[in-house]
Amino acid sequence: MTEPEKTIRRRHEQTAARPSGQGAGRGFAFHYDENNQEFVLAGVMTPQDTAALAPMSEAFGAAAARLRGTMFLNVKKLLRVNVCGFRELSRLISIACENNPELAIRIITTSVIAWSSRRFERLKSVAPRVEVEQYDDAFYPGQGVLEDTSFVPILRTQTKMTWRHERDILPRHGLKPKMRIADICCGIGDFAALVARTFDPAEVVAVDHAQGSLAYARKVAAELGVRRVEYVHGDAASLLLEDDRFDFVTCRHSLQVFDRPELILKELFRICRPGGRVYISNEKNSHCLGEPRADSIQWSYTEVARLWEHFGMDIELGPKSRRLMMDTGLEDIRMESFMVTNLDGDPQDFADVVAAWESVYVDRMAVERGDSEEFIARFRKGFHDHISAALHPKGYAGWPIWVASGQKPL
Ligand SMILES: C[S@@+](CC[C@H](N)C(=O)[O-])C[C@H]1O[C@@H](n2cnc3c(N)ncnc32)[C@H](O)[C@@H]1O
Repeated sequence: MTEPEKTIRRRHEQTAARPSGQGAGRGFAFHYDENNQEFVLAGVMTPQDTAALAPMSEAFGAAAARLRGTMFLNVKKLLRVNVCGFRELSRLISIACENNPELAIRIITTSVIAWSSRRFERLKSVAPRVEVEQYDDAFYPGQGVLEDTSFVPILRTQTKMTWRHERDILPRHGLKPKMRIADICCGIGDFAALVARTFDPAEVVAVDHAQGSLAYARKVAAELGVRRVEYVHGDAASLLLEDDRFDFVTCRHSLQVFDRPELILKELFRICRPGGRVYISNEKNSHCLGEPRADSIQWSYTEVARLWEHFGMDIELGPKSRRLMMDTGLEDIRMESFMVTNLDGDPQDFADVVAAWESVYVDRMAVERGDSEEFIARFRKGFHDHISAALHPKGYAGWPIWVASGQKPL
C-alpha cells in the first residue's frame, strides 16, 4: 500500500451492508500496480454520481495514458457495481483506447462473482482490443482432477476414518465452543458440518472452488439438519472474506493440492483475527504402510507422490507445514502427526479409503498421465496389497497425517 511500491491506493468509504458471508461490510477501493500494469477495483462500487468516483477515474486515466501494451483491469474482488459505476468504467475504457490507440485492455473476472464475467463481456463492444478473461477457469494444475466429482468418494471415506482422531486433536489446537470458524477448501463440507455439530460454534463459513462438491455439501448438510454452516463458492488464494474475522481457520488436506500453498496460507492468516489460530492438515503419502507385502505397498505410494507432482500437487507436504506456517508469520506453532489404521474401527472402512484412492489415482490420474500397462498393473497391485493388509486377520495398514496450527500475532 505504499508509494515506493509504485502503488496508488485509495479507499472510498461507501457503506456496503451485505448479508452474505462473503465481503460483508466492504467499502470500495482501487489501486494501480505499475509493475504489473494492473488496475485493481475491489469492494462495492455504487456511486450516486460519477463525481464520487473522480479519484478512481483520474488514476485510471493517468495510468492508461502512460502505459504500453496491455493494461489489466482486475475486478476479481469487485463485489457489486451499479449502473452509474458501470457507465463510468465504460467511459474510461473508451477514452483510454481512443487516446492511446496501441493500448489493449484485458479485464480479469472471476466465476466466484456470478454476474461478473457476463456483465464485463459487454465492455468488449466499447473499444477494439478489450478482452475479458475469467481467471479461475484453469487457475491451478490439479484443478481438473480435484473439481471432478470422482473425488467425492475419496473425501467421504477419508473423513469417516479421520474424524475420530481430529475430534480429539482439534481442542489441543485451540478449538472451543462459540468460535467463529472458517473451513477453507471444504470439499464436500463434511468436516465443517462435523465441527458445527461437535463444537457449538457461533458461525461456520466453508469455502471451496469445486461447484460439484459444494452442491453435495449443501445437500448433505440439509439432510443432516446442520444449519449453521454457510457453504460458499470461492478461491482460497483470493478470498472475498474480510480481514481478522475468524477465531479459528481450518484447511484440511488442501495446501497439498494447490500449486502455490503459500498464497492460501497468506489468506488463512489474513482472515484470522489476531490471537486466533490457523489449523492445517496434510499428508506424506510415501509414508503410507502395511504388512504383509510392505515393499509393494511402499512402492505404489512413492509413485503416488510422483504422480501428484506430475499434476502440480505436493502430497508430501505434511512435514513441511511447520516451515510454511512460520514463513507466513504464524507463532506458537503446534504440530503433531497421527496414523489412521485398520485397527481404528471396522477394517473395511480403511479398505474403502484405499479402494477410492485406487480408482482415482490409478484409473484416472495414471491413465491421464499416459502410463504403460505394466506400470499401471504394478501401481494397482500396491493398493490391492494395502487393502489385503487392512483386511488380513494379522495385518496392519496405516495412513499418516500431519496436523499443524499457529497463532496470528496479537
Ligand atoms: C483434497 S480436497 C480436501 C477437501 C476437504 N478439506 C477434506 O478434507 O475433505 C482439496 C479441496 O481443495 C479445493 N481447492 C483447491 N484449491 C482451491 C482454491 N484455490 N480455492 C478453493 N478451493 C480449492 C478443491 O476443490 C478440493 O475440494
